[in-house]
Amino acid sequence: MKDSNLIPFIGKILQMRDPHADRHSDHVCDLACLLGKEFGLSPKRLEILEFAAKIHDIGKVAISDYVLNKQGRYTETEYLTIQQHTLLGAKLLETLGIDPAIRLTILNHHENYDGTGYPNKVKGDDIPVEARILRIVDTYDALTSPRGYRPAYTPEQALGIMKRDERFFDPKLLELFFKFRLETFN
Ligand SMILES: [Fe+2]
Repeated sequence: MKDSNLIPFIGKILQMRDPHADRHSDHVCDLACLLGKEFGLSPKRLEILEFAAKIHDIGKVAISDYVLNKQGRYTETEYLTIQQHTLLGAKLLETLGIDPAIRLTILNHHENYDGTGYPNKVKGDDIPVEARILRIVDTYDALTSPRGYRPAYTPEQALGIMKRDERFFDPKLLELFFKFRLETFN
């Protein structure tokens, strides 16, 4: 089956498991594609980015309800469990024969530019560009969405937090995101 047919199907599974995933995936996808275009990605890479963004958290289908729906902060063990969603997502997509570039983007979407991310502590430009883009827009959407233990940050507060933590992000992409984010959104 073609990836363009499989992606909506996989997205639906994720949405059934986690009702909030739909809005998050759509928002991340919109922002990722805007940033990707601004950065000058080729149409092929933009398609990889779009597909990966739509299902980037698919590995969460294999995480327990208790951890997935927990309202408070995670314990260390729970945090290690949630980190598994990157590996589980990549493994799941391997069985479906999805484009390896989409799988690689999903595997790396929580890697930090300074090498402190997960699951493999990949660093700098060794992280695929699509995953570096997702890391930025995924963080922004998470910060501007409410959590059980805190209300949503305003866009300005979210950008302030990301500026403080800038070592996690590709500097070229972060600068571009700040620039167009300030021009395009409110
Ligand atoms: Fe994720």
